[in-house]
Amino acid sequence: MNLVLMGLPGAGKGTQAEQIVEKYNIPHISTGDMFRAAIKEGTELGLKAKSYMDEGALVPDEVTIGIVRERLSKVDCEKGFLLDGFPRTVAQAEALENILEELDKKIDYVINIDVDKDILMERLTGRRICKDCGATYHLIFNPPAEEGKCDRCGGELYQRADDNEETVQNRLDVNLKQTEPLLDFYQQKGYLKNIQGQQEIDKVFEDIDELLKGLNR
Ligand code: AP5
Repeated sequence: MNLVLMGLPGAGKGTQAEQIVEKYNIPHISTGDMFRAAIKEGTELGLKAKSYMDEGALVPDEVTIGIVRERLSKVDCEKGFLLDGFPRTVAQAEALENILEELDKKIDYVINIDVDKDILMERLTGRRICKDCGATYHLIFNPPAEEGKCDRCGGELYQRADDNEETVQNRLDVNLKQTEPLLDFYQQKGYLKNIQGQQEIDKVFEDIDELLKGLNR
C-alpha cells in the first residue's frame, strides 16, 4: 500500500503515522524527521535545512525532492510506504508522480487529516516527543502517565525547536497557502480521502483503518 498523509502542522500526521506503520508494516517516510535527524548528525543536508526550519519556512523543493527520491528507491519500500509531510507543494507533487512512474508504483490514497486551523497553536505548543523512541504526546490531550517520561520506553520527553509560538505561526501561514492547490491537485487525480481530525486520537485512527482495510493486500 502506497500512501501519502497530508494535514496542516499539528493535524496529527505523526500521531496517526505511528499507528498506521505498526499495523500495516510499511516504512514511515517523514521529511521533517529526516531533516531533524540530519541536523542532529550535523550533515550537509542538516545544515541546509536548519535555517529554513528554524523560521518555519519550507526547505527548498530541490533539496526535499532529492531525499525523497533516494528514500523511495530503497528496498524496504517495495512492500509500500507512508509519506508524511511530503509533498507540500504542487511542484513536489508533480515530482513525486515522476519518481513513482520511474519506480513503476502508484499512490493508493492521499489521506488528508482535516482540522480547523484555530486549534493547531494549542496542539503544537503543548506537544512533547520522546528523545529515544520518537513517540508523540500532548501535555493536555495525550499526556504520559508520568510527567516528562515516555510510557513506551521510559525516555525523556522534549519540545521540538520549531514548536514555539512565533515559529508555529509562520509554519501555519506557509502551509495554509500551499495546502489548497495541493488538495485540488489530488482531488483531480482521484486519490484524495478526507478524514475528520478533530476527534479522539483512536477514533481518527479507526476511520483511517476502515479506509485501509479495503486496500490491505
Ligand atoms: P514536519 O516535521 O513535517 O512538521 P509539520 O508538518 O509542521 O507537522 P508536525 O509534525 O508538526 O505535526 P503533525 O501533523 O505530525 O502533528 P502530531 O501528530 O505531532 O516538518 C517540519 C519542518 O520541516 C517544516 O516546517 C519544513 O521546514 C520542513 N519540511 C518538512 N517536510 C518538508 C517538505 N515536504 N518540503 C519542504 N520543507 C519540509 O500532533 C500534534 C500534537 O497534537 C501532538 O502533541 C499530539 O499528541 C496532538 N494530537 C494529535 N492528534 C490529536 C487529536 N486527534 N486530538 C488531540 N490532540 C491530538
